[in-house]
Amino acid sequence: MGLKILVIGSGGREHAICKKLLESPRVSTVFCAPGNAGMKRDGIQLVPIAETEHHALIAFAKEQTIDWSFVGPEVPLLNGIVDDFAAAGLLIFGPKKAAALIEGSKDFAKKMMDLYDVPTAAYQTFTDFEQAQVYVKKLGAPIVIKADGLAAGKGVVVAENEAEAISALDEMLNNHKFGASSGKVVVEEFLVGEEFSLMAFVRNQEVYPMVTAQDHKRAFEQDRGPNTGGMGAYAPVPQIADELVAEAVETILKPIAKGLVEQERAFSGILYAGLIATESGPKVIEFNARFGDPETQVVLQRLESDFAEVIDALVTNRQPEIRWKKSGFHLGTVIAANGYPEAYEKQIPLPDFSAVKDATIYFAGVEEQKEQLVSAGGRIYLVEASGETLQEAQAKVYRTLDNLDTSGCFYRKDIGFKGMK
Ligand code: AMP
Ligand code: GLY
Repeated sequence: MGLKILVIGSGGREHAICKKLLESPRVSTVFCAPGNAGMKRDGIQLVPIAETEHHALIAFAKEQTIDWSFVGPEVPLLNGIVDDFAAAGLLIFGPKKAAALIEGSKDFAKKMMDLYDVPTAAYQTFTDFEQAQVYVKKLGAPIVIKADGLAAGKGVVVAENEAEAISALDEMLNNHKFGASSGKVVVEEFLVGEEFSLMAFVRNQEVYPMVTAQDHKRAFEQDRGPNTGGMGAYAPVPQIADELVAEAVETILKPIAKGLVEQERAFSGILYAGLIATESGPKVIEFNARFGDPETQVVLQRLESDFAEVIDALVTNRQPEIRWKKSGFHLGTVIAANGYPEAYEKQIPLPDFSAVKDATIYFAGVEEQKEQLVSAGGRIYLVEASGETLQEAQAKVYRTLDNLDTSGCFYRKDIGFKGMK
């Protein structure tokens, strides 16, 4: 009998995770709860249980004799899903609640970085509006204001001037824009340099870095427009030198993993570092306790070893064997509904993908109506392709898109541009 795996989540990231797991000859079935209708085309079994229903998920895992589960998004991690599965005697890959706090509280993440000398922007944390204002005036603009807790990627304001910073503080501290998540704010120095993501498989003190990736957070070309959940990504990032990545592993990922063990918050799962390559080396802008989206859709494609075997080794205390592709690039572009990230159109019919070759489609905000896929979210799907060069990968993605009907949708035409300079 092959492995039976349960993946929790419903986005493009989870589609990529499930698809990669299914490539393994060791895997017989991949279930995704709740998943999305687009995943069915790849043989992923949907389970109609929400990611917040821990008891129902545990009952399902027991009933189906699932070998282990994998958690995609941050919300269930911070709700303690890993603690609950472990208490029920089930194997699951992801950090416990206490360790996931590295993503759940920016103040906690900053304190960990202070304690373990991990390079990051200068900062202070405030609950008091007046005191925060004084610090903004002291640091000057540009300056960054961050809600302490989870805010679905919207809790960060990069303020160009002091007035903007103070208005963000007012929204968060006085008007409770993100409820309890912005009762506390981190005010930090604006870092200058190229941004990139470095993720790693982590098991307590063991850190196995992945290849670098770069997200495109702004809605429009040349990094203009509002911040989004991510409009595209590519991997690896050629303008980030191997030495800088090695430095980030030694000065950032390893000390944080070790520090979390020392604080009795040992982390097992995917640790994501959002980094800026500054003149004085890599510095942290954020940690996540999970795979990034859309980075996963390109980074997992770089993994040469058997993904299911890697996770199986990690959850059963064996040594994982992890090899990455050494040549070429993977690149993915997100197709979003017109209007996203503000109010956007819904129920846009998706095109016929049957003629797509040379590219992979990862579905995110989709549902099925009378056997037709229609959009059900802002970010609808991602088109991913590979090439020997970034240019080649990008050309394949845009050629694929030229032949698809994208009415009602938009996408950035410049994904990967920083890697092609
Ligand atoms: P986050 O939601 O934490 O990923 O932050 C959103 C975006 O704000 C990041 O992708 C960065 O581009 C930017 N950002 C966050 N912190 C800083 C910082 N200290 N300096 C410069 N840019 C930042
Ligand atoms: N791509 C950024 C994130 O997943 O948070």
